[in-house]
This record gives sequence, C-alpha cells and structure tokens, in this order.
Amino acid sequence: MTATRPLNDLDLARIARRIDRPVVLVGLMGVGKSTVGRRLATLLQRDFVDADDAIAAAAQLTIPEIFEQFGEPYFRDGERRVIARLIEEGHGVIATGGGAFVDPATRALILERAIAVWIDCDVATLVQRTARRNSRPLLKNGNPREILTRLAEERGPLYAQAPIKVLSENGPHDLTARRIIEAIDQWL
Ligand code: S3P
Repeated sequence: MTATRPLNDLDLARIARRIDRPVVLVGLMGVGKSTVGRRLATLLQRDFVDADDAIAAAAQLTIPEIFEQFGEPYFRDGERRVIARLIEEGHGVIATGGGAFVDPATRALILERAIAVWIDCDVATLVQRTARRNSRPLLKNGNPREILTRLAEERGPLYAQAPIKVLSENGPHDLTARRIIEAIDQWL
C-alpha cells in the first residue's frame, strides 16, 4: 500500500499477520531502537525484547560491567549467542545494540532469519540523545561526537545491508514505528 493516509487498526492487523519473522532493529547508539521497538511491538500486538537487556540478564551484569570485567570481544560473543536465541524464540520485535549488526555472524543470522530494519539519524541528534545516559562504554573514552561520527562512517555500509531503512528525526517515536510498518508492508 502507499502511504497516502495514516495506517488504521485494520491495516495494522493485516500487516502484522503478514510478518512471519522477528523484526530486528539495527543502527547506532541513540537512534531510538528500544523506544521505537516498544512502540512498534505495541502497534503490531507482538512482544518486544531488548537484546542488551537479555545479555545483561544472562550475564547477571550490566553492559558497562561486562565491558570492564571481560572486554568487548567477550561481550560480542555473548551478544551473538543471545541474539541467535531471541530469533529462535520468535519474538515479535527485537532491538539490538549498535554493534550487533557489525558482527558478520550476527548480521548473517539476522539477514537470513529476521526482517532487519536500519534506523538512521543524524550524528548531532545522536550526540544529544546519548548524552542523557552514561551507560555506553564505547562513548566513555573520548569525545562522543567524534566517536559517533567515526562509527557512523565505519558502520554505515554494514547497516545499509538491512533491506529496510527508516529515518528517525526528533519527532515522535510513534511516527518512526508507523514508517517502519509501512516500509515492511511494501517490502514483504
Ligand atoms: C554498542 C551499543 C550499545 C551496547 C554496547 C555497545 C555499540 O547498545 O550494545 O554499549 O557497539 O554500538 P545501544 O545501541 O542500545 O546503545
């Protein structure tokens, strides 16, 4: 369908029925994967799970603690296993940490078994949004603007492998969630 009118409940139910795989949100820290993901799951009447929360629960540690005590490669191993399990469990919407889709094995799995959606956003907005919380190990050792600019350059071509891309500006997350649903409907 074309996006000429807002999605109504019947549209949402029809599109939700066509979605036969988990919707996996990828993109940089601060693009709003978790907030948009929750809204998306509500609109589709499916469950939502945040991969970082699942990793922390499995490790019984926070994400900064995992980085501090065991290092990033250990975190990536856990992330790979947890995301594989979440996809296997068939959750409706899964938000991933910004580096998950950069890992070749995790990326291949998501592309094969899920619907990957890249949420993109300009770096200035990401700098503002990520400044609100101090829980991101990769932003602690340096200037967040420089780090996010570098990560956007390095990771952009990888995120671009997701079949669906949606921009999230400073507008309501509901709008981004609805754009994602329209884009999935057109892509399926
Ligand atoms: C990371 C992003 C974080 C978290 C970890 C590493 C990354 O998740 O997984 O700090 O490599 O970009 P968010 O994207 O939810 O902040």
